Amino acid sequence: MALLELSHVTHAYPPVNSLIWKKRQTKHQPVVKDVSITLEGGQCLGLLGGSGAGKSTIGKVILGLQPPQSGSVRINGIDMYACDKRAKKQLRRHVQAVFQDCYSSVHPKMTTRQIIGEPLDNFERLTSREKDYIIGEALDMVGLPADAMNKFPKQFSGGQLQRISIARAIVVKPSLIVLDEAVSSLDVANQVHIIHVLQRLKEQLNMSYVFITHNLKAAFALSDQWAVLDQGLLCGYFSSITEMRTSQNPAVKQLLEATLSGQPESGTLRQDRNLIITEGKREGVRV
Ligand SMILES: Nc1ncnc2c1ncn2[C@@H]1O[C@H](COP(=O)(O)OP(=O)(O)OP(=O)(O)O)[C@@H](O)[C@H]1O
Ligand SMILES: [Mg+2]
Repeated sequence: MALLELSHVTHAYPPVNSLIWKKRQTKHQPVVKDVSITLEGGQCLGLLGGSGAGKSTIGKVILGLQPPQSGSVRINGIDMYACDKRAKKQLRRHVQAVFQDCYSSVHPKMTTRQIIGEPLDNFERLTSREKDYIIGEALDMVGLPADAMNKFPKQFSGGQLQRISIARAIVVKPSLIVLDEAVSSLDVANQVHIIHVLQRLKEQLNMSYVFITHNLKAAFALSDQWAVLDQGLLCGYFSSITEMRTSQNPAVKQLLEATLSGQPESGTLRQDRNLIITEGKREGVRV
């Protein structure tokens, strides 16, 4: 059974002013149209596409935050929007998120202990000693020292804060993390560090990701398969970079051209000085 199964998902946001909407008798347009995606445990799906393509909306649908107009979202076979409250709470534990803006996704007056401890408080009943142990473990996994626990967000760099966001996501041992532009606001060195952390967690904890990004290089480095969205429609689903590069779909070609222009046509693509990607096969990320 697949870990994540989106089946014919269509989503439209409600109108801002429903009265005006009714008067004009216009239909609100879906921003995600009939999208089906399957992801197995321990795999990473790179979700790609231009701005406004519907990537974040799909992320929100997977996180249980935007019920689809039609279609279904199943996590380990359980329908997220058709199950009871108790099952939904459990599913929410198993699907965590890391967003782009790490500064606004943490409370500035909370310590790292409180930030990472929050999901534990939501889902577990633990003593403070047990909590500290688990938080220390999570910090270690993302490469931060235990003394980070008593510090506040302003005492960290963007890259360190993003590691704290990842520690908060992994602390409840989810099966799936939705990473929405999670490395996009970081400089290249920090992007490489975070991708390295995510790769390690994927291997150590058999973690799965939906990696939403504009950054094709990062998506190539981390993902095992790639889905390309264009105006809400899934226009390509690829299990190798070679497959994607030979696609004749105009939206896929445009995405590749826009991102990889100036790169060699074949062989090793050397991007920045740290990221090494071999066409068709990921060689690795060096830090
Ligand atoms: N809360 C909302 N209310 C109404 N429309 C929205 C809302 N959020 C997004 N949209 C619209 O839905 C469409 C898809 O948006 P979405 O944020 O999913 O795109 P995206 O692929 O993540 O884009 P980007 O790469 O710029 O983040 C866009 O046309 C956007 O204007
Ligand atoms: Mg987005």
